[in-house]
Amino acid sequence: MKIKEAVFVISNEDHKKCPSDGLPEYAFIGRSNVGKSSLINLLTEKKGLAKTSGKPGKTQLINHFLINGEWYIVDLPGYGYAKASKTARYKWEKFIAEYLTQRESLVNLFVLIDCRLEPQKIDLEFMNWCGEQGIPFSMVFTKIDKLSSSALQKNLAKYKKEMLKYWEALPPLFTSSSESAFGKEKILNYIETINSQL
Ligand code: GTP
Ligand code: MG
Repeated sequence: MKIKEAVFVISNEDHKKCPSDGLPEYAFIGRSNVGKSSLINLLTEKKGLAKTSGKPGKTQLINHFLINGEWYIVDLPGYGYAKASKTARYKWEKFIAEYLTQRESLVNLFVLIDCRLEPQKIDLEFMNWCGEQGIPFSMVFTKIDKLSSSALQKNLAKYKKEMLKYWEALPPLFTSSSESAFGKEKILNYIETINSQL
């Protein structure tokens, strides 16, 4: 699938103020700085569409982008940003959790994981919570340009083993690099397949 048109629609903290047209949406979440906004810009081939930054904590709202007039990409704030104040973190976590649990048009959540890291408690707990809440998710291992292919395979194997301690089957897994554009086609084809089944 090719994205012909990607348009910013609205940013907000309240899932009730998100677009009400019922079009399917695909949201991107993960730790702060993992590369959510960069991946969205890669998928849409629009560099400045989602705001990116070298510093964590850049995306602070729920951002809707309308794709080809038919579905949405949603850029979410990162979780686990240690430097944010407790009050700010609590506020973000609350509105993100409300969005994730109450948004009926959310068809898939992409959970982004930095491919260089060992399995992290915060990500495993978050995915377990998604499972408990019945939120359908897939995993994307980002920044693969930063690892050799053998180191990447080793890390992926470790992650899969850890996930299988909690899950009977693994969710769909993707690998990506916003630097080399790797992973773009597979992720877009996956979205296209889901859209065609709706
Ligand atoms: P928050 O909005 O703060 O939660 O961060 P984010 O997850 O949206 O991350 P963002 O896309 O802003 O990227 C964070 C930093 O990582 C930026 O400096 C990006 O250039 C860099 N980055 C993102 N993706 C990749 C990638 O695939 N490879 C490399 N090498 N750097 C990346
Ligand atoms: Mg961001």
